[in-house]
Amino acid sequence: LGHAVLSALPAVAPGDDVAVLLGDEVLDAETPGLAQLLAARDAAGAEGVVGLIEVPRDQTDRYGICAGSFEAEGRMRISEMVEKPRPADAPSRFAIIGKYVLPYRLFDVLKRTPPGSGGEVQLTDAIAVLARDGGIVGQVVEGVRHDTGNVLGLLRASLHFAWKRPD
Ligand code: G1P
Repeated sequence: LGHAVLSALPAVAPGDDVAVLLGDEVLDAETPGLAQLLAARDAAGAEGVVGLIEVPRDQTDRYGICAGSFEAEGRMRISEMVEKPRPADAPSRFAIIGKYVLPYRLFDVLKRTPPGSGGEVQLTDAIAVLARDGGIVGQVVEGVRHDTGNVLGLLRASLHFAWKRPD
């Protein structure tokens, strides 16, 4: 994911913030996920924000996991981020859903980020470097979230949206 995001650099105007929205994560919410993140970032005066949900401990190895202290309703000042930790090693159960708003300087960090979990350049590892400066927050998002990157999640998402239609 880190390499994929870095590949988008030519499409970003120098100095611009970027939103990263992974296509397999679908959120059905009154306020769209990206709007929730931007509101949290602005309220926190942060340079970046990631969307979070709380997951069962036996699922931490599927996600980037964030730890820190809660400073407002659902909003964590992040001090630690680990990509796909084993349940026993996870610093919390707050998992990154695939939605981020990140500062332009993230790209400089990504260029220097070595391969991590799974032998791949991880976006989580690069954001963790920025988090050391205290400017990254996580917002627990509101809404029904679907992960369509697995068979059951795709089926659930399809039924969820189909049932909302009268036809
Ligand atoms: C990616 C990220 C991970 C995040 C997840 C959300 O993992 O690397 O930190 O929690 O998306 O879906 P992937 O699902 O691509 O393995």
